[in-house]
Amino acid sequence: MKFQDIELLFGNKNPKQMLPKVTVLAILLAILIFTITPLCYPLFSYSSLLKINKYKQPSKYGEKKCDIFSGEWVPNPKAPYYTNTTCWAIHEHQNCMKYGRPDSEFMKWRWKPYECELPIFNPFQFLEIVRGKSMAFVGDSVGRNHMQSLICLLSRVEWPINVSPTTNDYFRQWRYPSYNFTIAAYWTPYLVKSKMVDSIGPSHNGLFNLYLDQVDKAWTTQMDDFDYIIINAGHWFFRPMIFYEKQNLVGCCDCLLKNVTDLTIYHGYRKVFRTAFKAINSLQNFKGVTFLRTFAPSHFENGTWNKGGQCVRTKPFKSNEIEFEGTNLKLYMIQLEEFKIAKKEGSKKGLKFQLLDTTQAMLLRPDGHPSKYGHWPHENVTLYNDCVHWCLPGPIDTWNDFLLQMLKMEDMKFSSGERLHAQTN
Ligand SMILES: *[C@@H]1O[C@H](CO)[C@@H](O)[C@H](O)[C@H]1NC(C)=O
Ligand SMILES: *[C@@H]1O[C@H](CO)[C@@H](O)[C@H](O)[C@H]1NC(C)=O
Ligand SMILES: *[C@@H]1O[C@H](CO)[C@@H](O)[C@H](O)[C@H]1NC(C)=O
Ligand SMILES: *[C@@H]1O[C@H](CO)[C@@H](O)[C@H](O)[C@H]1NC(C)=O
Ligand SMILES: *[C@@H]1O[C@H](CO)[C@@H](O)[C@H](O)[C@H]1NC(C)=O
Repeated sequence: MKFQDIELLFGNKNPKQMLPKVTVLAILLAILIFTITPLCYPLFSYSSLLKINKYKQPSKYGEKKCDIFSGEWVPNPKAPYYTNTTCWAIHEHQNCMKYGRPDSEFMKWRWKPYECELPIFNPFQFLEIVRGKSMAFVGDSVGRNHMQSLICLLSRVEWPINVSPTTNDYFRQWRYPSYNFTIAAYWTPYLVKSKMVDSIGPSHNGLFNLYLDQVDKAWTTQMDDFDYIIINAGHWFFRPMIFYEKQNLVGCCDCLLKNVTDLTIYHGYRKVFRTAFKAINSLQNFKGVTFLRTFAPSHFENGTWNKGGQCVRTKPFKSNEIEFEGTNLKLYMIQLEEFKIAKKEGSKKGLKFQLLDTTQAMLLRPDGHPSKYGHWPHENVTLYNDCVHWCLPGPIDTWNDFLLQMLKMEDMKFSSGERLHAQTN
């Protein structure tokens, strides 16, 4: 299976077409960040802004709860737990060692929450918990990156068989025969109905119509029977978009059409999650748990993705070495706000929402991306330096440490009938 996710993320293949107006985009974005952001998010910290029901685990029974998503990366000489020779599921463009990445230290870290330990992924335990269940990965190629990490981590126990209903690579389904566990990928980078109206567009990475109040039925019609949905969206919102609501054009983002209001990516991002969550909460038969996997920052340095930006670091940041700010913070805040609304709505129907809160951990991992090691040097790819996706093995494996930990808490609540404080209200 060979996905062309780089083209899909960043438009067509011709680098010569990738030049001019991105500067405009960068300037607009900068203006936006420096003017709007301070107004919306003044000095106090993001966590005090929202009394969000974040996932917390008890550090010990009855003691103070631990936020597993707040912590630091610490060395882990035992990692990695698979390689590109033991796992076939690594996507071509994320097989960094194959393409000559010289350093391997980036694989040798684990996430240490400040107030407790996050256990390393145990594939046996995971498969026991999800026996007879099904899990959908809904979103873009970073979601697929996550799913492929899971397949690799589970490969010590079992390989799945391909049970995809079609030959479409973007809608793969896998089944673990001994556990009757199914995972499925649903390709929907905008979550809502969208249409590419120009493959080049004003900044040479496409122009998309987004119908902000209409879901993408490619995934919503398939969710009813899933036990878990892991949903994400993000990096496609950096392309020019035209927004429609109630069938009317309401504005755009970097479309450079003279008589159309610029509504910023934040407008679209918020509406899209609102629409997607509403759709989940309106499903007829769905009884599962929805995990919002929060935005995972990219790390282009010394230039944008098409202007020589790259990510050449070989070590994680410490949390005091990088500011959680700007676009990363704003997108994350929007996700948290919409999540909070959805969770409240869902609880009326008995539907659960959980925050798989990867943003801060991944902000600290500029060393985890393929950069130029996602293809051969002579290969003609649009995203020459990929600082968006994550090498496998690599820091994205930690998302499954988080996921298992959250599933364990869910499982304990149900099987023991005891209310552990996995969520507080
Ligand atoms: C890269 O692709 C473009 C357009 O497809 C082509 O014009 C150019 O010659 C290619 N470069 C290489 C090195 O193959
Ligand atoms: C795995 O990585 C090694 C370099 O560490 C490379 O030589 C080899 O071709 C890769 N194998 C596969 C199957 O990707
Ligand atoms: C496998 O799990 C599905 C639910 O995901 C269930 O409908 C089906 O009956 C199970 N099959 C077996 C053989 O247990
Ligand atoms: C912009 O204005 C022109 C001229 O008034 C009109 O023809 C065009 O349809 C408008 N475009 C949009 C997107 O509304
Ligand atoms: C960016 O540029 C600075 C100064 O020119 C240099 O010190 C640094 O190594 C560069 N960083 C990357 C990631 O290329």
